Amino acid sequence: MKDNQPLWLNNAIFYEIYPQSFNDTNGDGIGDFQGIIEKLDYIKELGCNALWINPCFASPFGDAGYDVSDYYLAAPRYGTNEDLKRLFDEAHKRQMHVLLDLVPGHTSVEHKWFKESMKAQKNEFTDRYVWTNSIWEEPQGMGCIRGISDRDGSCAVNFFSHQPALNYGFYKPDPTKPWQQSMDDEGPKATLGELKNIMRFWLGLGCDGFRVDMAGSLVKHDEDSKGTIKLWQNVREFLDNEFPHAAMVSEWGEPNKSLQGGFHMDFLLHFGPSHYNDLFRCEEPYFSGRGKGDVSQFVAKYLHNYEKSEKKGLICIPSGNHDMDRLARHIKGDNLKIAFAFLLSMPGAPFIYYGDEIGMNYVENLVSVEGGYGRTGSRSPMQWDDTLNAGFSLAPQEKLYVKLDDSPDRPTVKAQMADEDSLYNEIKRLIEIRQANKALQSKGEIEFVYAQENEYPFVYKRSADDEAVLVILNPANRAVTFDCNYTLGKAIYCFGGKAEQNGGKITVPACFAGYYKL
Ligand code: NOJ
Repeated sequence: MKDNQPLWLNNAIFYEIYPQSFNDTNGDGIGDFQGIIEKLDYIKELGCNALWINPCFASPFGDAGYDVSDYYLAAPRYGTNEDLKRLFDEAHKRQMHVLLDLVPGHTSVEHKWFKESMKAQKNEFTDRYVWTNSIWEEPQGMGCIRGISDRDGSCAVNFFSHQPALNYGFYKPDPTKPWQQSMDDEGPKATLGELKNIMRFWLGLGCDGFRVDMAGSLVKHDEDSKGTIKLWQNVREFLDNEFPHAAMVSEWGEPNKSLQGGFHMDFLLHFGPSHYNDLFRCEEPYFSGRGKGDVSQFVAKYLHNYEKSEKKGLICIPSGNHDMDRLARHIKGDNLKIAFAFLLSMPGAPFIYYGDEIGMNYVENLVSVEGGYGRTGSRSPMQWDDTLNAGFSLAPQEKLYVKLDDSPDRPTVKAQMADEDSLYNEIKRLIEIRQANKALQSKGEIEFVYAQENEYPFVYKRSADDEAVLVILNPANRAVTFDCNYTLGKAIYCFGGKAEQNGGKITVPACFAGYYKL
């Protein structure tokens, strides 16, 4: 990879917007681009300087927009392409950057490419998706769509069964299965060419890069991801030539691979082997006040990835996202502040899921909306204030995209902004501190100082150039003591009291977070 780092990524703090539920300005019960524009100042004031917007292209919304039917058209319910361009411009005016969500692995069954590829007669799109040569043959291990086309074949799916897999080829096509194409065949090459056209189109309009959905899923039967890495290197080359400053963040979960593929940062995933859920979303999360959690396996896996990518594969840790339970479903009260003291002091860019900054709750017992299923409760309307529909929309309640949290004590932005001790204001302070200390930012190094099995606190050192900061986090409801060879310097952040050093031992109070200069 050339030295093409978009410098703004180094101190980027992202705010993830699920556009359906953020801010509705035309009264249809669904958020829109104008709604996002109107809240840019709010996001900036919180301290976030970058956005990730979930898919906002034309779609039948069988998977909330992750089933695209036209990559070149903004979903009309959010506005027009011009409105989206205006959103980029308005963000740039505020020194903010915008990542769109790129879904390269599959489309909706409604996409015109898929409709064409279903035809018996050969055409330009026959090889756009992964099809077998007979309806009686299934593509191994992928699930398929069959029996709905004149074409005699089964089409592989990439996620839900209405999301046919785009064809980027097989890493090593099986010679006994002639329908498996190689990456160098015409069909896969055309798919990749079209992917670049899509990126070119939106980057040309002013978006700053992409969060890439299921980035590791493109080349099939690619056990070590060698083909998929090669494919992304090819994309990187195109970006280096035409859009060297485009930022690329992958949903992959293997930073050593995504880095080789030319991505700048990779997400820590809430599924697979990351142990992310040990922190916030399991029976005894480490950050809950009960103090019965374990951080050690998360740290071991994190370190493994960190070393494997030579400390360069930046891992972004989200507060939550549209696919997982709200943070506040498991972590309560002041412990949310400790959780954010962690999220905002780790390497890689932090991602704050809309509403997590006020501790919005998971809305229980909802009927699935747009393929959300259990995820629907994390996709409820943003709670701005105490006016109609919490200020999200002027639509009648029954028209809201997802039901609002109707609990009487639901948090709102307005109330939390006015309260010095709120989660919102704590996060704002934490962001200011991160931005004032290079050691705490994305590229600062990390060394784990105390992360013992089933023990508290959790301690690590962040450093950059000649700056070093020791982060001490004790979410548990009891004071704890740990051995430490470092001498604590000035506290640049303290919540819940202060650390006492006694020679090689440091004691911190219950529910405490502190950042100390070394
Ligand atoms: C990951 C996305 O985050 C999720 O919401 C979506 O359903 C799948 N990929 C399929 O695109």
